[in-house]
Amino acid sequence: MKLLSPTLFLPVAAFCAPVTVSSRQAAQIQFTSITTSGPGCPQGSITTDVTADVTAFTLGFDKYQTLVGPGVDGSNREKSCDIFLSLRYPLGCTSAVINTTYHGFAQLDSGVVGTLSVAYILSPGSTTNSPPPAMFPASSWSIGEVYTKRDSVTATENIQNTNQRDVSLTIRTRIMLIVANSTMAGTLSIDDATVAITTAQGC
Ligand SMILES: *[C@@H]1O[C@H](CO)[C@@H](O)[C@H](O)[C@H]1NC(C)=O
Ligand SMILES: *[C@@H]1O[C@H](CO)[C@@H](O)[C@H](O)[C@H]1NC(C)=O
Repeated sequence: MKLLSPTLFLPVAAFCAPVTVSSRQAAQIQFTSITTSGPGCPQGSITTDVTADVTAFTLGFDKYQTLVGPGVDGSNREKSCDIFLSLRYPLGCTSAVINTTYHGFAQLDSGVVGTLSVAYILSPGSTTNSPPPAMFPASSWSIGEVYTKRDSVTATENIQNTNQRDVSLTIRTRIMLIVANSTMAGTLSIDDATVAITTAQGC
């Protein structure tokens, strides 16, 4: 496992309203809007840092954490956050490779198993198969450690209307703990997610 030091974030905006990012005359695929929703990313718990060319951004999560243990409410066993993105495909651009990196922390008693699953949904269009979930098997995370999960999907637009350039990409993230009995404790978090358009095809 690779250990990474936590990334530093500039707190740019509290995330109740969509962040609208303006693009210059762009010959590249760019993000035009970023919104989040879900129990893992309640209002005010997110920071966002967008690159100057609007082809990548990092979300910092303050409250995206699952917990199990004696006396811990069962509602903390699972958390999710949907990231809703708008992508502008310039004329001729048909597909993009989108690389995503997640960092977080896991500390699990030997009977606790964690999973981090992510689905990537493009509309109108399609993505290559969503990568398999990251598994945090029992007995491997008893000493708390930082983890890194990297995904790469190809997002191919299927725009029918010649005036339309924007497509929606939804990234559904979820972390979950499965515990053998209620005496065991564990925690799994997502602390940040970086989403980057790395390669565009057809433009
Ligand atoms: C919980 O599981 C652990 C490990 O399998 C076991 O040692 C312990 O006795 C179990 N406790 C209960 C209350 O079942
Ligand atoms: C994107 O991810 C793929 C697959 O992991 C990797 O081969 C490629 O180098 C990555 N691109 C960038 C720019 O990081």
